[in-house]
Amino acid sequence: MAENTPTKSAAKTPATTGGAGHPARASWSGKWAFILAAAASAVGLGNLWRFPYLAAKYGGGAFLLVYIILVVTFGFALMMAETALGRKTGQSAIGAFSAFGKKYMIIGILASAVPFIITPYYALIGGWVTKYMASYVVQPATAIADGEFFGGFILQNAESYIWMFLFIAAVVLVVALGVKRGIERVNKVLMVALIVMAIAISIFALTLPGALDGLAYYLIPDFSKFSAELVVAAMGQMFFSLSLAMGIMITYGSYFQKDQDLEHSVRRIELFDTGIAILAGLMIIPAAVAVMGSPEEVASTAGPGLMFGVLPQVFLGFGPFANVVGFLFFALVFFAALTSCISLFETLVSIVDDATKKGRKFSIAVCTTFIVVMGTIVNLGYNDLLSVDLMYSLFGIGDYQDAQLLDFFDFLSNTIMMPIVALLTCIFVGWIIKPQTLISEVKQSSAFKSQKLFVVMIKYIAPVFVVVILVAYVMNTAGIIAL
Ligand code: ALA
Repeated sequence: MAENTPTKSAAKTPATTGGAGHPARASWSGKWAFILAAAASAVGLGNLWRFPYLAAKYGGGAFLLVYIILVVTFGFALMMAETALGRKTGQSAIGAFSAFGKKYMIIGILASAVPFIITPYYALIGGWVTKYMASYVVQPATAIADGEFFGGFILQNAESYIWMFLFIAAVVLVVALGVKRGIERVNKVLMVALIVMAIAISIFALTLPGALDGLAYYLIPDFSKFSAELVVAAMGQMFFSLSLAMGIMITYGSYFQKDQDLEHSVRRIELFDTGIAILAGLMIIPAAVAVMGSPEEVASTAGPGLMFGVLPQVFLGFGPFANVVGFLFFALVFFAALTSCISLFETLVSIVDDATKKGRKFSIAVCTTFIVVMGTIVNLGYNDLLSVDLMYSLFGIGDYQDAQLLDFFDFLSNTIMMPIVALLTCIFVGWIIKPQTLISEVKQSSAFKSQKLFVVMIKYIAPVFVVVILVAYVMNTAGIIAL
């Protein structure tokens, strides 16, 4: 059998029907349904929480520039590859790779492992967002803006668990009750509301004294800030935010109809996702500089708590409306996080379901137990029940104060696993099944305008880039080179 031909069972299985013994595969009602569902998965804490703190930490404009270049080149090629692979095989990650030979199943297994690492800590941050949303209902905005509020809450043994469990319960309920489509419909309106609100908050934040220095820091690249670590961070962020190298886009592609334009859809998702990330940075970074005094101060302290520490101070500027603004903002972030976490959770459920064949209820129970246990372990890192810092003990990175279990899992998924999965996917598509296999898939429904970019990225630039940047990063961290 030719390497670039899916095995018999997969080849015989068109994308819109299930294999033998399986119900017909669901499919999106059209191109926009796919774009909206993928955007709902993509737009989440990655854009609103993770992007601003990384951009703040890694030199502002320099990070932004590298990020945008990566999204329109590497991110585009990888999203095209993943969605086309999904649509061609009609399978999720594990099935999609093994459709070309059992030995390639390992790539699908590695991709599927990523959401198992991300979902628990995603749920923990989701819990923080839920806590802030609720706090704006019952507490004065001044109390929430207090410097001790965030630390006081995440270091509390009982409370931080309760909010995380509530967020997990919301995710599981939506998936178990099958009301995901309903949520995604509401999400359309909420996403527009989020954009309008983020623009309004950004404009307001720019009026704060010192914010314009922050704006310059965020938008004007300072080329002295470039480093291997910056590029590795931007690359990991691109995978995380676009839901790449974690199996999600392969599954979404498998629901995509054969006559819909893949390239146009991928461009739209990227534009939407990146636009919201840029906006989130605009809302948080200038405000952070205004609140903390200088870009240097922001860069040296920026971490997972940035959004929670800075925005409540900005909201105080709305005077008597501070509570309303704070509540609305965190409610919108809550919905964006919820829809992304639902897509992560769905991915876990379908993997367990495919592996055990014991039905959806069983898989939902297994996955819920998994995130509750793992989320609890990650949360333990933030309070005195666990005074061990894995990042420090295992890799000698960070210290007990600022590198927690959350940082460890985030590092493991974004800096190690996702680049490896992306590299293997590029080698698989570029050199094993060959780009033409997926190009013909794309061309079934439309012209492929950026075909050359796709081939060059997947075959040469992206794999070489991943290897070079990871090697440079490791050597830099080990002190062998200074980049
Ligand atoms: N892509 C999702 C996010 O950005 C996981 O939150």
